[in-house]
Amino acid sequence: MAFDETYFGTWHSNLAEVLKKRAVRDAFPPTLRSADKLEGIIRQLDLDLQRYALEWQRLSDMHKEYGTYRKIVEFIGEPRGLLIDLGSGNGNFLAEWGDIPSVGVDLNGYCLQLAETNLRQRGLPVVRYSKSSIMPNPEKGLDILPLEGDLHLDQVTLLTDDITELRMTKQVLEHKKAKADIVTCMLWGGRNVYETIHFLDQNAGSFDYKSAARLTKYKLMDNLPAILKSGGRFYLAMRMHPLAEQISSRMGVGTMEEMFKDLAGGRATLTKLTKFPLRQETGLTDINIRGISGVQNETVLYVAEYVMK
Ligand SMILES: C[S@@+](CC[C@H](N)C(=O)[O-])C[C@H]1O[C@@H](n2cnc3c(N)ncnc32)[C@H](O)[C@@H]1O
Repeated sequence: MAFDETYFGTWHSNLAEVLKKRAVRDAFPPTLRSADKLEGIIRQLDLDLQRYALEWQRLSDMHKEYGTYRKIVEFIGEPRGLLIDLGSGNGNFLAEWGDIPSVGVDLNGYCLQLAETNLRQRGLPVVRYSKSSIMPNPEKGLDILPLEGDLHLDQVTLLTDDITELRMTKQVLEHKKAKADIVTCMLWGGRNVYETIHFLDQNAGSFDYKSAARLTKYKLMDNLPAILKSGGRFYLAMRMHPLAEQISSRMGVGTMEEMFKDLAGGRATLTKLTKFPLRQETGLTDINIRGISGVQNETVLYVAEYVMK
């Protein structure tokens, strides 16, 4: 594999340690209580994360060549203060900004490793905190918890965290008494909203308003005030099939503008909305609208600007 550092060993010994506690063992469904079974699951998870990181790098480089990240940066305009990119992948979007104080947050430590290499190759100062541990979680099964470090926010910082909760990110910002001026969440496919440890779902990819809404409206928007200044800007870029607009009434969400307004959940004001053509992805995250197949149109990228209340 292409990674210097793997996480399986740490996760495995960590989990073995907590599983010595009876109450923790009992929290698992009976079928998952055997050590072999759990070892198999975390080994698979580790490999899936590696595979995803490499596959996303291929797609992301395609988007980069096509100029997508550049267009988003132009839409946002001059950066000011601290930028936080949620679900930063292999760092192609962060790299477009050059040397500004920024934090890339991703659940997948392998994506962060690729991002570090990518940013360094472009001569940018970067510090990565991608160590994490796996813990049982009664609701999700397993949880990836980041390990803490003494973080600095004056260069590009890469941080492991789950953006549905942003526990580590909030902690770091609180400790530094800092908040971001701009938060971005780029190139999400709506359905690629991963809320459990088994987030690498091969079937994910269809645009699903409900799952996009759950992440944005009920999770991100609720957590944003803790990491983004009041009056700060939040950018959400979602890739969709162009037919999404036409069938939005079937999804019961009205126009795209109404949908993006709704995603704000009353916490922010939608100030700009644009769309660009996007290169069609093939492989990991094919974009399909449920019930419509065989349509070869180019995918579009909607980019929304919100100002936090
Ligand atoms: C489609 S990629 C987009 C990456 C990047 N924003 C870009 O535009 O190139 C989605 C990224 O979100 C990460 N991700 C998915 N679920 C996450 C979660 N719950 N918390 C943090 N990152 C997550 C994935 O590991 C992946 O790197």
